[in-house]
Parts: sequence; structure tokens; C-alpha cells
Amino acid sequence: MNQLDQLAALLRFPSISAQAEHAADVSECADWLVDKLSGMGLDVNVKKYSTPKHPIVVAKSEKIEGKPTVLIYGHYDVQPVDPIELWTSAPFEPEIRDGKIFARGATDNKGQFFAHILGVEALLKENAGQLPVNVIFLLEGEEEIGSGSLYGFMKEHKEELACDVILVSDTGMAGMDAPTFSYGLRGMACAEIFVKGPSADLHSGSFGGAVKNPITALCELVNSFHDEHGKVAVAGFYDDVAPIAAWEKSMWSTVPGMSAKDLEELTGAKEVVTEDGFTAAECIYARPTLEINGMGGGYQGEGSKTIIPSNAFAKISCRLVPNQNPDVIMGLLKAHVEKHAPKGVEVKFVPGHTGDAYACDPHSEYGQAAQQALEAVFGNKPVLIREGGSIPIIAEMKKVLGADAMMLGMGLPDARIHSPNENFSVELFLKGIELSQSLLRRLGQ
Ligand code: BES
Ligand code: ZN
Repeated sequence: MNQLDQLAALLRFPSISAQAEHAADVSECADWLVDKLSGMGLDVNVKKYSTPKHPIVVAKSEKIEGKPTVLIYGHYDVQPVDPIELWTSAPFEPEIRDGKIFARGATDNKGQFFAHILGVEALLKENAGQLPVNVIFLLEGEEEIGSGSLYGFMKEHKEELACDVILVSDTGMAGMDAPTFSYGLRGMACAEIFVKGPSADLHSGSFGGAVKNPITALCELVNSFHDEHGKVAVAGFYDDVAPIAAWEKSMWSTVPGMSAKDLEELTGAKEVVTEDGFTAAECIYARPTLEINGMGGGYQGEGSKTIIPSNAFAKISCRLVPNQNPDVIMGLLKAHVEKHAPKGVEVKFVPGHTGDAYACDPHSEYGQAAQQALEAVFGNKPVLIREGGSIPIIAEMKKVLGADAMMLGMGLPDARIHSPNENFSVELFLKGIELSQSLLRRLGQ
């Protein structure tokens, strides 16, 4: 099978980690990877470990003394597909159109880590089974649901996973001609808020005016989260935020695709609105946020229904930046919600999952090798950014394995990750295979 057909085969598994009915698909996807890694001509130790949820796949090359060990991390689980009706082709029947392969997981993250697998395979073929460095593949099936099993697994398998540096392609790329090195990730803190009003929906004529409406109460609460300057109004929220260095501000001012106009075109938003005093790039790469991800309650059906609903809820998440502690932030959120809970309703704050932000020095020896490889393959100097998205396990890897990450993302702005019509550029996939070889060769010198 050619490389693209192999990618298509990997994309056919509906390995949706969040949905229990897909657990067998996730596991079969792991089996497929085990087969691929075992059959690669690599003298490897390939293992599929079961966990309380989804399997973890580890493959190691035969250890060569005196060579650095590179741990290549990726995740083979994918996000749910809904709203399904907005897909042009079925999410698990990969289709190539306009030079892109469309499927759920094409960019996030199957296409990106599979490029590294094929890069290693090519290196093995080229040099009679010898790699320029030691390689460990670590592929998990729970990234999209918070990497629950991998935290414990890494601690238990610390020796097996010992490495000098981590290679990850699961972040964004500024543009096809703008190879991107990310030296940071935002962290996160997620929570839910439940507002309880009357014990059942009430007639709004019989009781309206006397009984507090829980949706109104929730809106008041949600409104208290931000001030008129676009700042999060939770007391203490910015206390530990690491400032943005002058060299970062100047570097980010020229990242392609990050002007207000570019972002308006890309997203369809009427106007880009940022926190006062910061550009859009600064806000996305290095400022914390509080977002409302969903709200519900009351009547959602056709026509009108004159009620005071009995309850309402909101899902919120904060993106965090270096030095902010997610547990401290969770405490601040809870205190804020308790303090601003409107009269007449019961408000419950339920903490969800958290993850630390991450940042490393882009000018380290490994950082420089990665940037050289990017330039060699793409022909342009890479842009250096901090990713606005999160891969919380990367900060944990730094803590447990002591290694920093080279994040060479290939997620283009229009790759539609987590969204209908997710896609991965075929050209980028092939360049990714080259990039992997170029970087591993460099690291072996
Ligand atoms: N690949 C993404 C991280 C990412 C997000 C890269 C945006 C580039 C742009 C990763 O799979 C992801 O979606 N992470 C989640 C966090 C997770 C704990 C649910 C995220 O950022 O929301
Ligand atoms: Zn994702």
C-alpha cells in the first residue's frame, strides 16, 4: 500500500475516545498501529498496553549507545463528528479533494504522527535497519478527553520512556509557506455551573415577577466574568501570569495570518475583539482566557412556551499561560461563582479537568535542530510561536521525563480540527515525512 493509502486506512477507524460505543474502534485502531510498527523492519519492541479506558501503544527501536533518544508522541483518538450533516463526505470515509484528505482526525492527529512513523520507516529502509537516533513512539487514545490514563502510565513506565527530547506534531502551522515551531502551549481549567430555580417549570404568568428565573440568574453570573476591557474579572486571575517578553512581541507582530483582518476572514467573525493592550497574536499565544463553551435550560422547541424554567447550566473553560496554577485558578473561579450567585436560585460549581501550560526555550540545541530541519524542508525560515491550544500531557512529560518538546505543528488554519470537514493537505503530509527524516538525521549527528 502506498503512503497515502495507509493514511486512509488509519483514518477509517472511528476512534472517538469520548463515546463509549466507539471503545472497540479505538482498540482496533491501536491494533492497526501495533501491526504497522511491528511490520516496519524496525527491530522494535512494540506493545499495546491496556488501561482503564483506551490502550496506549509504545514502540522502541533497539538502543544504540551514544545516540540521543527521541520520544515521538501522538494521539490516535479523535473528536466526535457532530454536526454530521455539515460534512461533505463521511468523516470516516477519507476522500481526497483539492489536494487535501478529508476525514475526522486527518490533521488532529493521525496524519501528523503517521508522517513521523513513515519518516522512521524510510530511514530504516535507507540504512539497512539502522536509525540515526534511538526512537520511542508513544501513541495514546485519550488525548481528546484529557489523557487520563497516560498520567499514571508515564510514572509507572518512566524507565521505558526515558528520553532526551520529545517530538510532537499536534499543533498549528501559520501557513503552507510558514513552517512553524511552537515553544509553548496554553494550559486549561474546565468547569460546569448548574443553576436551580423552582422545583418544576412554572407558568410565567402565574409566577413571573415573584420567582427568580434561573436562566436570567445564569446570564447575570456569566456577565460578571468579564469587564468592559476584555479582561477576566475573576479576582486574582492574572496574579501569576508570566509577562510576554519584548522579543516575543516583536517576533509575533509579523506572524502570517494573525492580523485582525486575516482572522476575521478565516473565522467569519464580524470583528476581532481582544483584551485591551494586546494584539490578537499575543492574546492567543500568551494571555489567559475564560470562555463559555455552552449554555442550556428552558424551552428549546418550536414556537413559544411561557414558562419560568426550573434550571439552567453553563460549561466554561479557561486557557491558562505559564506560571498560572490550574488548581489555584479553579479555586478562584469557584469563589467568584459563589460570590456572584444571584439571589433566589441555588448555584452549583462543578470543577472539571485541568492541565498545566508549557513553555521551553526555542533557542536550545534541540530547538535549533528542529528549526533547521523545518527550513531545509520548507525552504523558509520558521516562525516561532506559542500554541494557543492545549496538550496538557506535554507539561507532565517535562515533569516526569525531564525532557522538553520540539513541537513542529502541521495544523493549517483551515484544517478544521474538531469541526466538520477536517482535512490534511496531502503535500504537507508528504513534507511531514521528509521533515521527520531530516530532523532525526540532524539529531543523530
Ligand atoms: N491538537 C490539539 C491541540 C491544538 C489545539 C493544536 C488547537 C492546535 C490548535 C489537541 O488535540 C486538542 O484538541 N487539545 C484540547 C485539550 C484536551 C485536554 C481536550 C484543546 O486544546 O482543547
Ligand atoms: Zn484535538
